[in-house]
Amino acid sequence: MTEGVMDLRHEPRERAYALVHSQMLGVLAGVDDDITGMATLASLLHHSFGHLWTGFYRVVGPQLLRVGPYQGTLGCLEITFGRGVCGTAAAERRTVIVPDVSRFPGHITCDARSKSEIVVPVFDRAGSLTAVLDIDSERRAAFDQSDADGLERILRWFVGEGRG
Ligand code: SME
Repeated sequence: MTEGVMDLRHEPRERAYALVHSQMLGVLAGVDDDITGMATLASLLHHSFGHLWTGFYRVVGPQLLRVGPYQGTLGCLEITFGRGVCGTAAAERRTVIVPDVSRFPGHITCDARSKSEIVVPVFDRAGSLTAVLDIDSERRAAFDQSDADGLERILRWFVGEGRG
């Protein structure tokens, strides 16, 4: 089944991400377009998990991220590398998990309801950083290593893994 919203809020994370991954691969079969991939994944993750904000910031210049496909209230448009959680993940090319955004120096508040956040880097086939995936939750400490593992696995689609 590739259509319809799954409710994965109460599933074990590993199983939940495996389900999203297979749904994504089904929806995107034969598609070779990063923006389509971003839009599809943002929608699947956002609605399956009930996140507050789910989307991508794309690398559009040296040290500059600009908002891409997302679900949620208005996100800020541009973030420079090193600023906020997204800019930190981009500058350091690694996943950043923030259990309490009020304790993260330089956190950029787009939606005041956000309590915790995870940002995962997106790489292309050449190993270049092309974007980051940012997910915000209304709950404190909503994300842990199981989310990092599941999301990093799914984002390998942008390296070309699983593209038909
Ligand atoms: N909180 C992010 C900014 C992006 S929004 O939350 C959509 C950050 O600190 O990088």
